[in-house]
Amino acid sequence: MSFGKIAATASLGGLLFGYDTGVISGALPFIKDQYSLSPGDQGLVVSIALAGAALGAAFAGGIADSLGRRKVIITSAALFVVGALICAFATSYWHLLGGRLVLGLAIGVASMLTPLYLSEMAPADKRGAVVSLNQMCITSGILVSYLVDYLFSHVTGGWRWMLGIGAVPGIILGVGMLFLPDSPRWLAGQGHIDAARDALRRIAGPREVEAQMHELRTDLKRENGRVAPWSEMFSGKAKYALIVGVGLAVFQQITGINTVIYFAPTIFNSAGMPDTSASILATAGVGVVNVVMTYVALRLIDRAGRRSLLLVGLIGMAVTLAILAGGFFIGNSGALAWITTLSVAAYVGFFAIGLGPVFWLLIAEIFPLAVRGRGMSIATVANWVSNLIVSQVFLLLIDGIGSASTFLAFAVLTVAAIFFTLRLVPETKGRSLEEIEADLGGEAHPQSAANASA
Ligand code: GLC
Repeated sequence: MSFGKIAATASLGGLLFGYDTGVISGALPFIKDQYSLSPGDQGLVVSIALAGAALGAAFAGGIADSLGRRKVIITSAALFVVGALICAFATSYWHLLGGRLVLGLAIGVASMLTPLYLSEMAPADKRGAVVSLNQMCITSGILVSYLVDYLFSHVTGGWRWMLGIGAVPGIILGVGMLFLPDSPRWLAGQGHIDAARDALRRIAGPREVEAQMHELRTDLKRENGRVAPWSEMFSGKAKYALIVGVGLAVFQQITGINTVIYFAPTIFNSAGMPDTSASILATAGVGVVNVVMTYVALRLIDRAGRRSLLLVGLIGMAVTLAILAGGFFIGNSGALAWITTLSVAAYVGFFAIGLGPVFWLLIAEIFPLAVRGRGMSIATVANWVSNLIVSQVFLLLIDGIGSASTFLAFAVLTVAAIFFTLRLVPETKGRSLEEIEADLGGEAHPQSAANASA
């Protein structure tokens, strides 16, 4: 079996993460009508899944260390299927919330374990591309969910199909994973050396197997000698990485991306779109921009650098958010629906070129090896918790202070993110993880010093 097939199966986890977070945008207007929901109740349909995701992400790493990656991914696939079915057959609002909570747990687990499993299965020279592949899967999942939403927006009770159809990729993921091995790194770490070698044989040619086994043993030896205590997470280089990682996690969410991803049709409706189907179609356009610009970012990220992409993206987001706020200030003219659609699309494009992929990539790069796993999970949980808070208060804000002021607030927070990036975010382009680690906190790596004086 090639790595390609393994990557295709496992990355369904990223696709499901995107699908089940995005699908709610088109389903929500119908769910609202069916159960006569207040803004707070609607916010809860979205945010209960995010609370589940924060929980799932918090525990996934630890459980995957003891049970193995494969079993936990299979469990998350089962949760994706069960959650989708509970939502599809919900007989009450509370029943639906239960289904969304189960889906959320699955999303949180997938958000941690898909990149982890993929990077442990990938040949060393493909590891970097794999992190980016995951963000492509997330945005593609969001786009597919928008298309499914559009198709079923014409069907009575279509929201049940929108939520239920996520069961299909869930089943494929679960069944597919039954035939895949656990990661060689985890197996070897557990002392199952023969099983690790068997797993490697399934992804690498006979000659590479022994070389990779050797690499694995060396890595494990190095890590075993260095199990860092928790206190190390909060001092020196790790503390600096933590500030950057958690800072970007929070900024990625409080600058408002998911208010668009989850509530776009609601925003377009309030800007005067003629009907819910038109709004969902405009939302699908936004989904296409998201995928295309993520692809552009992936092509540029190793050439232009993370910091430059981040800054260009953030400046673009601040400008488009200000235009959006301006549009809502002017009020209900026929042009508003257009201004809104175009500025939302441009805003998402600028997010996709910077803050979207760069956050997920940087958190895999900046933490010192000894605390990398824990650092990544703290940043991931911070990301889900901020996402939860923003999504829960967004509809209340729109109701309370109005759309114009809400988007203006996001614009101001984006300006704060620009200052944060200028002051604190390091450039990691073209440097090995060891060099990045040595440079954090101002300590020059011998190699960089040699380069500088050459
Ligand atoms: C990133 C964010 C996620 C968002 C997505 C949109 O993956 O972490 O919250 O929904 O981008 O493309």
